[in-house]
Amino acid sequence: MRRTFKKSLAWRERAKNALVGGGQPHKQSNPPQPIMIAGAKGSHFWDADGNDYIDYLMGYGPMILGHAYPTVITAVANALEQGNVYNVGHTLEIELAEKLIEIIPSADRVAYFVGGSDATTGALKFARAYTEKDKVIRCGYHGWHDWCHSTRGHLAASAEATLSVGFNDIDALENLFKENPGEIAGLIMEPSGHDLPKENYLENVKSVVNSNDALLIFDEVKTGFRYALGGAQEYFDVTPDMSVFGKALANGFATAVVVGRQDIMDEVSDVWVAATFHGEVSLVSAAMATIAELEAKDGVEFMWKQGQKLLDGYKEITDRLGIDQARIAGIAPMPFFGLNANSDKESLFRRTFYEATLDGGLYLPEGHIWFMSMSHSDDDITKTLNVCEDALKLAKAKM
Ligand SMILES: Cc1ncc(COP(=O)(O)O)c(C=O)c1O
Repeated sequence: MRRTFKKSLAWRERAKNALVGGGQPHKQSNPPQPIMIAGAKGSHFWDADGNDYIDYLMGYGPMILGHAYPTVITAVANALEQGNVYNVGHTLEIELAEKLIEIIPSADRVAYFVGGSDATTGALKFARAYTEKDKVIRCGYHGWHDWCHSTRGHLAASAEATLSVGFNDIDALENLFKENPGEIAGLIMEPSGHDLPKENYLENVKSVVNSNDALLIFDEVKTGFRYALGGAQEYFDVTPDMSVFGKALANGFATAVVVGRQDIMDEVSDVWVAATFHGEVSLVSAAMATIAELEAKDGVEFMWKQGQKLLDGYKEITDRLGIDQARIAGIAPMPFFGLNANSDKESLFRRTFYEATLDGGLYLPEGHIWFMSMSHSDDDITKTLNVCEDALKLAKAKM
């Protein structure tokens, strides 16, 4: 029986009169049905109509352990017994910083932020201060702030100081440095994602950036704690000058950090990047509990294993069914399974697939990598592959 979305649709109507634009754009477009979430546990969430889904968006990455994860909730609740915001230095923020220095290769010093956009902006401020240069190069999405996301209302001067380069394009990077001699403070880049770095690409990037007296900043907001505990930099064995971690750091609590090499971070220690909620207790205690659980349960290894089962399963199914428009990319802890939609026929196929998987109880990011968590069980994987296979067969039958 098809699911109904009556209550979700009623909430959508209420949202139009309460939230700017009825809510943030990305929350309305993906997946096709306009569901409204009412609660979540582990790898599942359910909507206002009581429909249950296996979640592969996982908050766009933060929920690395799973939703409503007991050890994190307990740690935060216990910590909050001692208060939350002091705006005076406290012991927990030092303990977490010491832990991050232990596990992240590029970390000698740690600065706290709230959310990834806040932290990437902070990292660029540090880079400009250190190099005394204004321009930066970006490679990937780094947040909503003016320098990264040009939208109506953004400050043109900020966007103009931001150059952009494609992933895996070392020639284009070299050209940007040639065209802007002595002007570029640094490159901020996602070290991996939908596409993986070509052989020696990250090493070459580091050499080009550093030989131009600029800083290399890895934005590990998505890759952090998934590729390896120490991020993609640990996995690929390339250590940047500075890095940004957020999302999965605290299993859904909004903390983010900029970490970096001692000489750089000590030189910029007077740069003003302070805010009321930076390093507050709930965020820091959630991060400590998250890392402790990942370490205690070999969480990274588990996500690699589960993600690989999905990738292998899709490949087997799409090969067997002869689905030419299938696209498989990413890497086990952040796999990608998509369907090309280069024609009306392909678009119909794709639409049918996503509607059928939603109806079958899967919440699959469309056109975006998926996020594995420590809560994605073998049963989840088996159900996911079965529902996907049925959805592909249904879409094929419609063609
Ligand atoms: C790689 C990367 N950097 C930065 C950000 C911005 O983080 P936030 O949305 O927490 O501000 C995102 C968000 O998706 C991201 O994927």
